[in-house]
Amino acid sequence: MNLTLHVWRQKNANDKGKMVKYDAKGISPEMSFLEMLDVVNEDLITRGDDPITFEHDCREGICGCCGFMINGVPHGPQRGTTVCQLYMRHFKDGDVLYLEPWRAKAFPVIKDLMVDRSAFDRIIAAGGYVSVATGSGPDGNAILIPKEACDCAMDAAACIGCGACVASCPNASASLFTAAKISHLGLLPQGQPERMKRAEAMVAQMNKEAFGSCTNIGECEAVCPKSIKLEVIARMNRDFIKASLLDRGE
Ligand code: SF4
Ligand code: FES
Repeated sequence: MNLTLHVWRQKNANDKGKMVKYDAKGISPEMSFLEMLDVVNEDLITRGDDPITFEHDCREGICGCCGFMINGVPHGPQRGTTVCQLYMRHFKDGDVLYLEPWRAKAFPVIKDLMVDRSAFDRIIAAGGYVSVATGSGPDGNAILIPKEACDCAMDAAACIGCGACVASCPNASASLFTAAKISHLGLLPQGQPERMKRAEAMVAQMNKEAFGSCTNIGECEAVCPKSIKLEVIARMNRDFIKASLLDRGE
């Protein structure tokens, strides 16, 4: 397969950046999208040019490092799929693809297709954990958890923190990510003692980080590679409002 790529090239956060055209030649349909970029980069390096920077690690759809826009869609055209798990057989010979980084004020571009997602880390640091007394590990079955709570918590815990939800949202809201993290702990018995405090602290941090507000558009759910559902946002809002009422003694 031969493809034409228009790739966003930007040296750093202060550089203006521009689209640059590249030919991806002799691409196997069995290659992943990132392997196709590896081929393009090898060619660039051979010619003494600067290779295209993109983030990746596991290439198995589990770490959340990869992600950029392909023809305006985060992670590309395949639903429920990270860009590292997207294969070239889903494209056609002669396709013209436009690759851009996530566009959001809270995710400044580091270089080319790579953005700084440390705003997500700061949201987690604000409360995305369960405080435990140190000591020996408790027995695995010491706390029984209803199956429904367990299933919902596991679904929310599938969030890999990739940032596609922010990139797809016209408000650049981080609500789906933050709500997934709040949900997966808030649904489990172990997460109950800090549930209200957690929701308040994480939402406050999200608001501090230049993300926009959620207006229930739903683009986030549509592009999420882990199919996180909008209902987690409703749960986050309930916990946040409850926490605010408790603070006011109501
Ligand atoms: S909610 Fe989905 S799109 Fe958003 S960070 Fe988590 S996995 Fe990525
Ligand atoms: S590289 Fe880990 S999810 Fe894509």
